[in-house]
Amino acid sequence: MNVQVLGAGHALPSRVLTNKELEKMVDTTHEWIVERSGILERRIIDEDKAASDLGFEAARMALDEAGVEPEELDLIIVATATPDMLFPATACIIQERLEAWNAAAFDLEAGCTGFVYALTVAEKFLLSQQYKYALVIGTEALSRIVDYTDRNTCVLFGDGAGAVVLGRGNTGSGIICTYLGADGRGGKHLNMPAGGSALPANPQTVKERLHFVKMNGNEIFKFATRITVEVSEKLFAMSGLGYKDIDFFIPHQANIRIIKTAMKRMNIPPEKTLINLDVFGNTSAACIPIALSMSNQEGRLHDGALILMVAFGAGLTYGGALLRWGRD
Ligand code: UT7
Repeated sequence: MNVQVLGAGHALPSRVLTNKELEKMVDTTHEWIVERSGILERRIIDEDKAASDLGFEAARMALDEAGVEPEELDLIIVATATPDMLFPATACIIQERLEAWNAAAFDLEAGCTGFVYALTVAEKFLLSQQYKYALVIGTEALSRIVDYTDRNTCVLFGDGAGAVVLGRGNTGSGIICTYLGADGRGGKHLNMPAGGSALPANPQTVKERLHFVKMNGNEIFKFATRITVEVSEKLFAMSGLGYKDIDFFIPHQANIRIIKTAMKRMNIPPEKTLINLDVFGNTSAACIPIALSMSNQEGRLHDGALILMVAFGAGLTYGGALLRWGRD
């Protein structure tokens, strides 16, 4: 018995923010952004929308594809660093809109590794046979916490959502193994200092722009290039599989240079690597399920395809999963 992806969905805002527009906002150039990050443009959520709106749309698509009704869901986990508000959980807001009245619902905060963490948690619930169907959503409205006066961060992030519906199956398809980790010592390198219980909002925190993402890009970069390979090797050791078995590699979409370094070290060719960073930027917990859903829609993911997903992010967290595409 294993846990399969029964359906996948995604949602992206229609508003495109180009590098040329960013040139007018901060001291940067299209050339610098493309060369240093690989990003050409990103999507920005409408003013009257929030992370739950994108998450709901992605969830609806995943449910339709899975052929699962909202009332059949036992569990909804939303991975996000940009919940609609601190509470109630964005998962509960989406549960209400879906009318998924039989589902437990909670948010999971593991930064950009959020989707892999949530996938792992949902898999365990389904394997325990306590639950039959789970909905895992990665949704981000990062433009709401990005400082568009800070060129170190504002060129990198974008908004979007992806979702999968999970259920049990008996064929060889499904999640083969997952691996999670964290190193809290690196938490200081990527955070949003104010707005929590440590530093509640006050006029000073607003003035000092502490309600925005702060990032030490170089430290994250070094960590990311090392950990992407380490996580992959853990997954291969757990599964007895190897790089040569991989049909698709879905890395966290933070920087094309991090992805290319990992591809080189693991000898994974470009045609096997799914990239959406160029057009969506870094959508944090949403980027992996967006890649899954879009490539599924494009017909690229054939039954039996072996997919390696690896992510890292605020925490610092890291993790990965090996998934054999297909369902009973
Ligand atoms: O999802 C997980 C979270 N994020 C990440 O994984 C991000 C990981 N890190 C990165 O992707 C890269 O470190 C960045 C893209 C953030 C930065 O690239 P870099 O090649 O590491 O540049 P750098 O930080 O070493 O900065 C080089 C120079 C600096 O100028 P000085 O100090 O050398 O004069 C920066 O101020 O580039 C400058 N710079 C920029 N210049 C033009 C930084 N951002 C920009 C910009 N446009 N947008």
